Amino acid sequence: MLSRMKTLSCLQILTGCTNTEARVSSILKYCNSRCLAVVPQGGNTGLVGGSVPVFDEVIINVSSMNNVISFDKVSGILVCEAGCILENLISFLDNRGFIMPLDLGAKGSCQIGGNVSTNAGGLRLLRYGSLHGNVLGLEAVLANGEVLDMLGTLRKDNTGYDLKHLFIGSEGSLGIVTKVSILTPPKLSSVNVAFLACKDYFSCQKLLLEAKRKLGEILSAFEFLDEQSMALALSHLEGVRNPLPPSLHNFYVLIETTGSNESYDREKLEAFLLSAMEGGLISDGIVAQDIQQASSVWHIREGLPEALIKAGANYKYDLSLPVEKLYNLVEEMRTRLENLATVVAYGHLGDGNLHLNISAPQYDDAILAQIEPFVYEWTSKNRGSISAEHGLGLMKANKILYSKSPAAVNLMASIKKLLDPNGIVNPYKVLPQSMIH
Ligand code: MLT
Ligand code: ZN
Repeated sequence: MLSRMKTLSCLQILTGCTNTEARVSSILKYCNSRCLAVVPQGGNTGLVGGSVPVFDEVIINVSSMNNVISFDKVSGILVCEAGCILENLISFLDNRGFIMPLDLGAKGSCQIGGNVSTNAGGLRLLRYGSLHGNVLGLEAVLANGEVLDMLGTLRKDNTGYDLKHLFIGSEGSLGIVTKVSILTPPKLSSVNVAFLACKDYFSCQKLLLEAKRKLGEILSAFEFLDEQSMALALSHLEGVRNPLPPSLHNFYVLIETTGSNESYDREKLEAFLLSAMEGGLISDGIVAQDIQQASSVWHIREGLPEALIKAGANYKYDLSLPVEKLYNLVEEMRTRLENLATVVAYGHLGDGNLHLNISAPQYDDAILAQIEPFVYEWTSKNRGSISAEHGLGLMKANKILYSKSPAAVNLMASIKKLLDPNGIVNPYKVLPQSMIH
């Protein structure tokens, strides 16, 4: 049992520390020696309670560690502190002709340390892959205050176990990420955004396959939303309108291409759209004519989490599933819930990532009983993941066995005990408590 914190004089702990990781190290050393639990916190935009204290943990917020340390224009490698806000890094790189390999709706407040600690996915994963591929190195402070310098900037390094991966996606449960080095791609000049309507989910799936085949290297996003999502956006997001003429569309797909040759890319996209239209895969669509139109189309998709918050109570599920089965779950959920709640589905179809949301005027046990454990059992039966990109945090820690074997979870618990024997770093998160003690 962790001892309760009474007073903690940070000034006392920080005396004499000049650099930021040394401050984090001093705080952790102090807390570990007294069995005081800590919660690492960045922008606090997570969706599973990973960065919030449960009882009386000390919050270590890294927001003031927000410096870019270096940027190498030749390699595109950015080294920065954990508290840098994602959007600030995007602007920093934009001025230098580069982009971040990840983009999220929460970019205005989420921080890179949190992104790395949660292995955030987002809108560009389809093109640039996950942070396990893009993060070249990191610095982390362990529970006992030891600073682990793994801040390499090499593309290739096969010397021993690649320990940085333990800190990518472990949600601050093994230590606190203080610095990261990331490979950033060059900014390409030609970006096109199409917003399309499909009559059924099967057409969305076929469209994805065709987009991968025909757009190939320029495809940078393939997002989908159903008509319930569109209705929600129209009623709760300010200034949003459906860019397609009003008629009954069951599904919408947002396709983004990013390339280096405007006329070639446009030609490629138009040929793809024409064949999709002729093949009956899309029933209507537009290609954004300028940046404003592109960003208002993106706003429909990116604004959905906000629209759901405005609509009332929301049960959120972030699932990885085989694309061909993904919408079956949504339909089964609708049947189970009947008129009790609205089932809203959208997500990163290109990555097989469904955001399943059940929206109701207020939280109600009768609704929850229809959703859980059904949603987890269904996902597990179909060999999916109960957390595609949001992590497990506090809210889903006890559900990990739906996606991982007991042997794998036991090994995770052993790693946790090895790195944090007193269990002070982000307790109650990621792993079930029963498997740690
Ligand atoms: C998104 O893709 O919009 C995010 O993962 C957030 C969410 O689903 O709530
Ligand atoms: Zn998402």
